Amino acid sequence: MPGPQKKPVVGHLGEIRQVGFLAFYERLWRDYGDLVQFAPGPLNGCMAVHPDQVRYILVEKPEIYIKGMSHDRLRDSIGHGILTLEGSDWRQQRRLLQPTYTPGGIRQFASIMTDEAEAAIARWRSTAGQPVDINEAMTRITMRVISRAIFGIDLDEGFREVALALHGLLDYTSTGSSSLFVMPLFLPTPANQRLKRNQKIVRDFIFQIIERRRRQGPGEDLLSLLMSIIDEDTGQPMTDDQLHDEILITFFAGHETTASLLTWTWYLLAQNPAVEARLYDEVTQVLAGRAPTLEDLGRLTYTRMVLEETLRLYPPVPLLARDAAQDDTLAGYPIKAGTLVVTPLFLTQRHPDYWERPEAFYPEHFTPEQVEQRPRYAYLPFGAGQRVCLGIHFARMEAAILLAHLAQHYRLRLAQPFDGRTQFVGVIRPAGPILMQVEAR
Ligand code: HEM
Repeated sequence: MPGPQKKPVVGHLGEIRQVGFLAFYERLWRDYGDLVQFAPGPLNGCMAVHPDQVRYILVEKPEIYIKGMSHDRLRDSIGHGILTLEGSDWRQQRRLLQPTYTPGGIRQFASIMTDEAEAAIARWRSTAGQPVDINEAMTRITMRVISRAIFGIDLDEGFREVALALHGLLDYTSTGSSSLFVMPLFLPTPANQRLKRNQKIVRDFIFQIIERRRRQGPGEDLLSLLMSIIDEDTGQPMTDDQLHDEILITFFAGHETTASLLTWTWYLLAQNPAVEARLYDEVTQVLAGRAPTLEDLGRLTYTRMVLEETLRLYPPVPLLARDAAQDDTLAGYPIKAGTLVVTPLFLTQRHPDYWERPEAFYPEHFTPEQVEQRPRYAYLPFGAGQRVCLGIHFARMEAAILLAHLAQHYRLRLAQPFDGRTQFVGVIRPAGPILMQVEAR
C-alpha cells in the first residue's frame, strides 16, 4: 500500500503532533491517493478515502473493523455507553434506544426545538448591537434542546460550567490520541487531574438529573426509559454508573455536533450572499412570519440543501476510527490485525471525482439529480452501516427548525474577520471565537 517513510517506534506521530490529524490525513491523500498506510506510533495505520473502501469497512465488515483500542481514550473520558461499546453490549443498547429516535419517535420534540428558537430570538432582541460568539450561542440552544427532549429538564443556570467541562472531556480525548505514551489515569498528571475535575462537574450534574427524575417519578423521556430497563440476565435495573455513562454519551453526542453544524452554516452564509439571499427568500415565503412546523420542513428544500452542504464542507465528526479485529484484505492489500483504520470523511466529501465544486459552498450539490448520480458513500456526515448516527433524524429536524426560524428574523454578519480555521477535538470547532453581529431583517 502506498505511504510515506516512517521513523522507528514513533512512526509519524511527530508530524501528526505538529500539524494535527486533519492536516496530516489531507497531506497523505494529496501525496499518495485514496488508500494510504501510515504509522501512528508503533502501530500500523491505514487511511481509506474512496467511497468503495469506506463502504467495505463501515457497512460490509463491521465485525472486522470494530471500535477497539482507538476508542479507549474516549471510554476513559466519557465512559461505556452506546457510542463506545462493542459487540453484544452495543447491540443490546442500540435495540433499546433505537425506537426513541425514529422519525415518528422524535416528532414529539419539534415543539421544544421551536420554543428554544423563539427564546433565542427574544434573547438576541434584548442584546441587540452586541456581537455574539456564534458557537457559544448555538451550543447553548442545542444543549437546552437535548436536556429538555431527552431528560425533561430546563437547563439554564450552570449551562456554561457544564459546557466547559464537556469541552474539557473532549480535549482530553483528542490530545492523548497523538501521544506515544498515555499516562495511566491513577497518575496525578495535570491532564489527568483536569480530566477528573471535569468528570466530577459532569457527574454531579447528571446525578442531579437522575435524582430529580426519581423524585418526580417517570416521565415521557429517554431517561425514564433507561431507568425502567431490567437486565434479562441479572433481573436488575441499570446501576447508577451505567445510567450515568449512557446519559453522558447521549448528552454529549446530541448537542455539540448540531451546534457545530449551525455555527458553520451561519459562517458560510455570511460569506456567500447569493446563497443567503435564496435561503431568506425561501423561509419568508414558506413560513410567512410563523414558527416552522414539522409540515413546513418538507417545503424548506433549499434550507435543507444549505445544511447538507455545510455538513459536507465542515462535517462535525470529520473522521471515523476503527481497529482491525483480524487479518483482512482491503482493495487487494493485506491489513494486519490491530491496524488502526481511519475513514476521513471530510476528504471523501471533497473528492473531486464526486463533487462538481469540491471546495466551494454550493448547495446545488444536493439537488435530487446530483444526489442520484453520486455513489452513496461519497457523503456520510452521520457515518454509515450499523453504527450510523442514532440521532440523524433528530439532528436534521433540529437544525432545519432552528436555522429557518432564526433566519426569518435575523441576518448575521461577521463582526470581525475569521479565517475559517478549524480545531479538531473529536468534533470540528472553530479555531477561535467567531464573533457575529445580529441584525434584524
Ligand atoms: C449534525 C449533528 C450530528 C452529526 C454530524 C453526528 C454524527 C455522528 C457520526 C458520524 C456517528 C458515527 C460514529 C462512528 O461510526 O464512529 C454518530 C454516532 C452517534 N450519534 Fe450522532 N451526530 C449528530 C447528532 C446527534 C444527535 C442529535 C444525537 C442524539 C440525540 C446523536 C447520537 C449519536 C449516538 C448515540 C451515536 C452512536 C451510535 C452507535 O454507535 O450505535 N448524534 N453521530
